[in-house]
Amino acid sequence: MIREILKYPNKILKSKCNPIEIFDENLHTLLDDMHETMVNDEGIGLAAIQIGELKNIFIISMPNEDGKQEKDNLLEAINPKILKSENMKSSEEGCLSVPKFSAKIRRFQNITLKYQDRDGNEIAKDFNDYDAVACQHELDHLNGILFIDKLSILDKVKFKKYLKK
Ligand code: CO
Repeated sequence: MIREILKYPNKILKSKCNPIEIFDENLHTLLDDMHETMVNDEGIGLAAIQIGELKNIFIISMPNEDGKQEKDNLLEAINPKILKSENMKSSEEGCLSVPKFSAKIRRFQNITLKYQDRDGNEIAKDFNDYDAVACQHELDHLNGILFIDKLSILDKVKFKKYLKK
């Protein structure tokens, strides 16, 4: 089911999310809803909090070379934590909760992420470049942080202009 995506400045987006302890049908339905909602809005990442569910879950689906988002390429990260991170760099980011705005944000380019899959299996995996950036963007959502909270002074001016539109 396609769910409504909460948009800035909705205060729910500033909440802190809670760990998942039960890996059941309800969780699977939520994950499927998140995927449907994200693809419908042409996003590459979505955190559960963006549809009002204060749970430590995000999904990422990077398009392949043809621009297609294959289901085998879908990352479902439950209770994610960064174990290791290195190599800071700036790259352009956007967010489904802040439509039509993008800015350069400094993030680690290489991370090791620990998370659980939809069945509760523990996984540790390395992510690089834009995959690593997307993981950190989504992980911030679970702590109530949006990428616009990390703007440079210049981009803050740009964002104020965007808000006036
Ligand atoms: Co986002």
